[in-house]
Amino acid sequence: MFKTRVTEKLGIEYPIIGGAMMWLSTPEFVAAMSEAGCCGLLASAMWKTKDEFRGAVKKVKTLTKKPFGVNLNLFPAMRAIDNSEYLDVIEDEGIRIVESSGHKAPEELVGRFKKLGLTWIHKCVGLRYAQKAVSLGADMITVVGFENGGATGVLDLGTFVLIPAVASSLKVPVIGGGGVSNGRGLVAALALGAEGVIIGTRFLITDECPIHPNLKQALCKARETDTVLVMRTLGNTHRIWKNQTAEKILELEARKATLDEIVAAAAGAKDKEMFDSGDVQRGTISVGQGIGLIHDQKPLKEVVLDIMREAREVAARLSR
Ligand SMILES: Cc1cc2nc3c(=O)[nH]c(=O)nc-3n(C[C@H](O)[C@H](O)[C@H](O)COP(=O)(O)O)c2cc1C
Repeated sequence: MFKTRVTEKLGIEYPIIGGAMMWLSTPEFVAAMSEAGCCGLLASAMWKTKDEFRGAVKKVKTLTKKPFGVNLNLFPAMRAIDNSEYLDVIEDEGIRIVESSGHKAPEELVGRFKKLGLTWIHKCVGLRYAQKAVSLGADMITVVGFENGGATGVLDLGTFVLIPAVASSLKVPVIGGGGVSNGRGLVAALALGAEGVIIGTRFLITDECPIHPNLKQALCKARETDTVLVMRTLGNTHRIWKNQTAEKILELEARKATLDEIVAAAAGAKDKEMFDSGDVQRGTISVGQGIGLIHDQKPLKEVVLDIMREAREVAARLSR
């Protein structure tokens, strides 16, 4: 049940992609996603050098023999990112799945994707971006609706409209996400035309997610109304958990503070400190509206099994 072109092509058991998460997609976390039957994605931008990234890829390989992929980051970043360096490692290490995400499709890299025979998934937030990526040769498209944790873009389309709009216009398989936190969300996305889902927020509250237990506890209590959109004034909108740092960023944006002030408040280094120290007000964390549907922490594999069990129950109920 739930075999699709996505599960077939990626060689995974369940139609679930574990979303790349900046600072969190450690080899251990990514391998746990793949071991659970999903496709884990390493967030390459976490590693500053080619050798460090190569070390991370090798580590995943020691932890799982199951498929995993690499995300290439095309978002504006604090440091210049040369994705061709990560692609060198992808080539050397025989990685078969690459996901790109960001404000534009990676035109300059597509030739190499094709030469290497990679399965290229492009993640975006709207039909016209999806069509552009397909015209360049994308093998699959991931679309995430406005509910999602992390970058939301500018179109503000909810998952319920975005997935069918894209799925009915494209021939390539579509992976949908933004708010998928349980089996009902999975079945709904498939009913809307997706052949797989991408999950980020739900996996934050798992044993394997490398954030401090204090933060997991705080997120467990969060409701669907506890996220905000920041950095819209900088053209880099992100949905994050509403804590004191998030409110500070919003306040700076509202009073048209300088770019330096906003960037200082939103610095990724403070996020990392928050993840490690458990001071839950220190930085920010991307979180989707689906956080309101999550009430417990479990091993990642149990979360995935719960999602699949509920999905089967829902599908059976609908077919009666
Ligand atoms: C903490 C966190 C960090 C994320 N970091 C990235 C990232 O670096 N690059 C990226 O393409 N997407 C990133 N995302 C988005 C996820 O890969 C995924 O698309 C999204 O979480 C799916 O929506 P959901 O959060 O509603 O499940 C992040 C999401 C979260 C929750």
